[in-house]
Amino acid sequence: MLQEMDGYKNSASLAVLASGNGSNLKALIKSIKSGDVANANISLVISNKKESKALTIAKDAEIPAVLLERNLFNSDEEYDFSLLNKLKEFNIDVVLLAGYLRIITAPFLKAYENRILNIHPSLLPDFGGKGMYGMKVHQAVINSKAEKSGCTVHLVTEEIDGGEVLAQACVSITPDDTAEILAAKVLKEEHKLYPRAVNNFISNLMLNNR
Ligand code: GRF
Repeated sequence: MLQEMDGYKNSASLAVLASGNGSNLKALIKSIKSGDVANANISLVISNKKESKALTIAKDAEIPAVLLERNLFNSDEEYDFSLLNKLKEFNIDVVLLAGYLRIITAPFLKAYENRILNIHPSLLPDFGGKGMYGMKVHQAVINSKAEKSGCTVHLVTEEIDGGEVLAQACVSITPDDTAEILAAKVLKEEHKLYPRAVNNFISNLMLNNR
């Protein structure tokens, strides 16, 4: 993957796919700038939602930002085909999902096998799977009376939220916590965990490519 015609790339090109607020994108940009994430560069941001703040965050950071709306395509496969072309155009090595509210089709998974990461706002395998996203996750955790929750960075496979876990961080839940309070606690941890997990992932990739 990271191999080039004339040798090896010493920096991985990342694409971030986001549909919402883009706070994880912001944390990743900051961590690359500070050097906490080494040997990596965000070369492309793609969103399926024109109102996604990720597009503005990318533009402000002078990162190419592409809006790809689903309604312009006849099928999910056609959508992902166009997305894959963009990833190829920008020589993307690793794809980071950050609040990307779309299912990845099989050809996309195949093209980037073991190269797509996601962050999920619970301690997987708990509170993951179909329909478990956003506040639904946190509400389900609160309803379950669990004493802790957290976030998980994992590889993306055909099983929703089912790929190999790369890193997790915990938060404790107090009896007064609402889903909103829990979401804020977890998001704060996400902003530390995702850059850390990406940094580890990239350094392993570099070692394996050497
Ligand atoms: C995060 O909670 C993440 O775990 C989930 O979607 C949310 C995205 O937040 N997959 P943001 O758009 O990065 O602020």
